[in-house]
Amino acid sequence: MVPGRTDRRPAIAIAVTGASGAIYAARTLAALLARGVHVELIVTDYGRRLLRDELGEAASVDNLRPYLIATYGAEVEAGTMNLHSNRDLGATIASGSHGCSGMAIVPCSMKTLAAVAHGLSRSLVERAADVMLKERRRLVIVPRETPMSLPQLKNMVLCAEAGAILLPAMPAFYQQPKSLDDLADFMAGKILSALGFEHDLYPAWTGTADRS
Ligand SMILES: Cc1cc2nc3c(=O)[nH]c(=O)nc-3n(C[C@H](O)[C@H](O)[C@H](O)COP(=O)(O)O)c2cc1C
Repeated sequence: MVPGRTDRRPAIAIAVTGASGAIYAARTLAALLARGVHVELIVTDYGRRLLRDELGEAASVDNLRPYLIATYGAEVEAGTMNLHSNRDLGATIASGSHGCSGMAIVPCSMKTLAAVAHGLSRSLVERAADVMLKERRRLVIVPRETPMSLPQLKNMVLCAEAGAILLPAMPAFYQQPKSLDDLADFMAGKILSALGFEHDLYPAWTGTADRS
């Protein structure tokens, strides 16, 4: 059993910030929930705006669970999700005693990346990420920006040096994606792998591209 939790299901923290790529967050959340994972969710103010701007009003934070079930299927109901205020630095996941085994920041803005790189811990997203680093747990950062400035590149290096996994929002095309959903599946699969979960979100590379 993970410390700080009374059930045996894996618990993962997911932070959604205001970088483009809300579909990656939605697909990752749905895939974790479909595996029966307990998700501790934090959405920044700009993350809230992003969900609405990119996925529509139906995907606003308050409607997110029904949106995920309607979009990705009833299996999403297997998991549970607990939404935290990003201003609540007294939340359970602000402490290393909570049993979250990992965290993904998806997508991760350059602002939040900078804050994590410098250990600022001003908001719950920043503090929970800092907890992952200090406890030597998995922290997966999915940055999205292009082109990148030198400070942004250096912040990624700082996070990597502190133990985070930098997993840029860079879907691949060798899987012959046919839709945006295929690209989102690829990114969500990479994130699940980095968090230690098995999945079938994209086929394993066989050595040649499948054009069927
Ligand atoms: C529609 C939209 C798209 C944005 N896309 C990005 C992006 O891809 N990368 C980024 O670093 N910031 C992006 N921003 C700017 C961030 O949202 C902004 O820096 C914000 O302060 C980030 O705060 P947060 O990390 O607390 O969410 C975008 C903003 C908007 C409104």
